[in-house]
Order: sequence, then structure tokens, then C-alpha cells
Amino acid sequence: MRVILITTVLFGLFSSALAIPDAKAGKTIYASNCQGCHGNMGQGNVGPALAGEVAGWKYAWFKRAMLQSLDDKGVKLKAPMPLWGKRGFGNTGKPPTDAQMTNLQAYLKTFKTK
Ligand code: HEC
Repeated sequence: MRVILITTVLFGLFSSALAIPDAKAGKTIYASNCQGCHGNMGQGNVGPALAGEVAGWKYAWFKRAMLQSLDDKGVKLKAPMPLWGKRGFGNTGKPPTDAQMTNLQAYLKTFKTK
């Protein structure tokens, strides 16, 4: 019993510490929340291209863009870019989690630039 408990706790610790960004999970988030405005390959549409420069932003900037709607220079992003920190991915009304945002950014990095 004790062994099982310890194993479970250790596994929990390690799996979260070693969480590897999951671009596949990010693709699902992108398809239903971002693609319409930023293009199916991040090439841009109503919104600017995310392939390339933005995909390579420091995670702190990307997170700030999602939660506070500020760009890399701290300038407020204009509508129709949604404030994801309020809306939540999938309209949950809850701020996106670090795991969701990390996965999403990992997916942006798979886009090719010309
Ligand atoms: C309804 C359209 C729309 C949707 C949906 C949308 N965006 Fe945007 N996004 C925009 C627009 C328009 C801008 C440019 C705003 C500006 O210039 O101030 C923008 C800007 C951005 C920027 C800043 C880019 C830069 O170069 O400064 C990032 C990052 C971004 N969007 C990411 C996302 C992500 C990730 C999603 C999905 C979770 C998403 N957007 C969904 C319209 C949208």
C-alpha cells in the first residue's frame, strides 16, 4: 500500500516537472480558437501572421498576450483579438492554463515561414 502511494506521488511530481510541450494538443486549441483570424498555417488573415517572429516570442510575452492582450512591446492588442484571459479557450470563461498556452505556442513553432 505504502509503495503504491509513494510511487503515485513521485509519478505525479515528475510528470508535471517534466511536462513536455505537446504541439498536437496545441493544434486542437489553435483550430478552434485562433485559426479563423490567424490562418490555418499561421500566415495571418484578419489578424497578423503568427508563424515566425511571434511563434518565437519568449513564453512570458506569449502568455502576456493571451492573458492581458499586450504585444511584445507592452502595447494593447486591438479588437477583434479576444482577451483570452477573460474568455478562456473554448469560451470557458476561465483563464487558459500554462499547459494550454505552452502547448499552443509549441504548435505555432511548427508553422513554416517563407
Ligand atoms: C476574432 C479574430 C481573432 C482571433 C479569434 C484571434 N486573434 Fe490574435 N489577433 C487578432 C488581431 C486583429 C490582432 C492584431 C491586434 C493589433 O494589431 O493590435 C491579433 C494579434 C495577436 C497577437 C499579437 C501579434 C503581434 O505581432 O503583435 C498574438 C500573439 C495573437 N493574436 C495570438 C492569438 C492566438 C494564440 C489566438 C487563439 C488563442 C488568437 N490570437 C485568436 C485577431 C484574432
